[in-house]
Amino acid sequence: MRLEQDDFRPIGVKISNPVRNSKSKSMMSSENRAHFSASCSSLRRSTPFRLAVTFGVLFVVAFVFSGAIIYHMLRLGLGRDVDQSLSEMNSLIVSTYQPGDTEDLINTLNNYASFQSTSDGLYSLTELAGNFAAPRIPNGVYTVTSRDVGLKGHERYRMQVSTIGPYSLVVAENFNDADEMLRIVLVSFEWAAAIVVATAIGGGVFLAVRAQARLDRVANTMNDVSHGALDARIPISGNGDDLDTVAIQINAALERLQRLVESMRQVSADIAHDLKTPLNRLRLTLDAAVAGNEQQADVSALLDEARNESDRINATFEALLRISQIEAGARKERFQAIDIDAVLSVISEVYIDVAEDAGQSFRIAARAPAVIWGDRDLLTQMIANLVENAINHCPAGTRITLSLRRQEDRAILSVTDTGPGIPAEERDKVFRRLYRIDKSRTTPGSGLGLSLVKAIAELHSAEIALADNRPGLRVSIAFPLMPEKS
Ligand SMILES: Nc1ncnc2c1ncn2[C@@H]1O[C@H](COP(=O)(O)OP(=O)(O)O)[C@@H](O)[C@H]1O
Ligand SMILES: [Mg+2]
Repeated sequence: MRLEQDDFRPIGVKISNPVRNSKSKSMMSSENRAHFSASCSSLRRSTPFRLAVTFGVLFVVAFVFSGAIIYHMLRLGLGRDVDQSLSEMNSLIVSTYQPGDTEDLINTLNNYASFQSTSDGLYSLTELAGNFAAPRIPNGVYTVTSRDVGLKGHERYRMQVSTIGPYSLVVAENFNDADEMLRIVLVSFEWAAAIVVATAIGGGVFLAVRAQARLDRVANTMNDVSHGALDARIPISGNGDDLDTVAIQINAALERLQRLVESMRQVSADIAHDLKTPLNRLRLTLDAAVAGNEQQADVSALLDEARNESDRINATFEALLRISQIEAGARKERFQAIDIDAVLSVISEVYIDVAEDAGQSFRIAARAPAVIWGDRDLLTQMIANLVENAINHCPAGTRITLSLRRQEDRAILSVTDTGPGIPAEERDKVFRRLYRIDKSRTTPGSGLGLSLVKAIAELHSAEIALADNRPGLRVSIAFPLMPEKS
């Protein structure tokens, strides 16, 4: 009797519930199946998979076609070889025959027949000699089987029937070797075809799955971005292929988008924050005017102040608007070839006296002909802003210098002064709209000058950099020069 230990296992001991287990297993597997069939159908619809399958099919068709040609040529070649050796054998036998001398012929034929078994070759001279009884058939070359010529076995022969004197000569050569060779070639070909098909399908699926996974990563990243994760980026595989190129370009676009959105957020917050102060000031001035009016005091000075304040607010809005328009690239249609050197002359005419009035010196230190593609008014405004900054933010005695140099395919414009300069940690921030360094609160300005300079520089594809002039500030702007006509 066979007692299984399980029969005595008390209830409550850890036994896996077979019913629940099998149910959960089957539920899992049906979920898996659903997931599997979903991913299969999405794979089938994917471009990489379709490409892989198309190439696989084309490859197989080309392979089978070229295989068929090779097989056919081989068959023809082998057949020709056998026929040739058969006809050589035939001529050899015929050459031993001299009319009237049948003896030699019979001996030769019996000699051949004795060297070979019937499975290798057949010889017959009309019932006189040979190793088989040849059927009577007309002259010619035939392919026959053992059975056709009344022999046992499954050999195939190529058989030549010819006439020699009064006799009929039959010579046959076994064709099985050629057949066997063709069979081996065919089997090898079938194997090769199977390997090619398996490799094409396997490789195709592998490549398709890999490409699909990468495309999925692109789709997922874009999905994340559309849901607000602006810092999401497509992973780069690093092998420099076309998907990488596209991913790098998309990432660059995302980078720019993120920067733009962040700067928009920053700008709106800054504008809201910075305009609160003058608006509050306006409100306080108006409050004071209302109160003064109630007491019948003279409030004209307060009203003047209020008007000036509202003019300043208005000017700020206009400047903000102008920067936005420039950033949007609206002025690009007005671009033409501009010689920056000519712009320098205009600036120097205007500011040499202004600087002198402020007790500062102004000069152009270097000039060079430099033609760029741009907007003259904006370029004038840009250089004027930089020179005005030097005049406004530097004390008397400051030396202000303008210079224009050419460096390879760029024109470098520099505005330098010997004033207090801008601390390194502030150099990025001063380009923000309405940003002013605290110590400049008392100097005239709205904090938009450098924002406008930057917007104009970017519109002209120029690079702007602030540096320490030891002492003072050096602003350098590198413009791309227009290619010179030769
Ligand atoms: N040449 C300069 N020397 C020292 N500080 C400067 C100079 N140019 C600009 N700055 C600083 O950068 C800030 C931003 O300049 P800008 O955008 O032109 O605004 P604004 O001139 O209206 O204050 C200024 O408030 C000032 O503190
Ligand atoms: Mg300024």
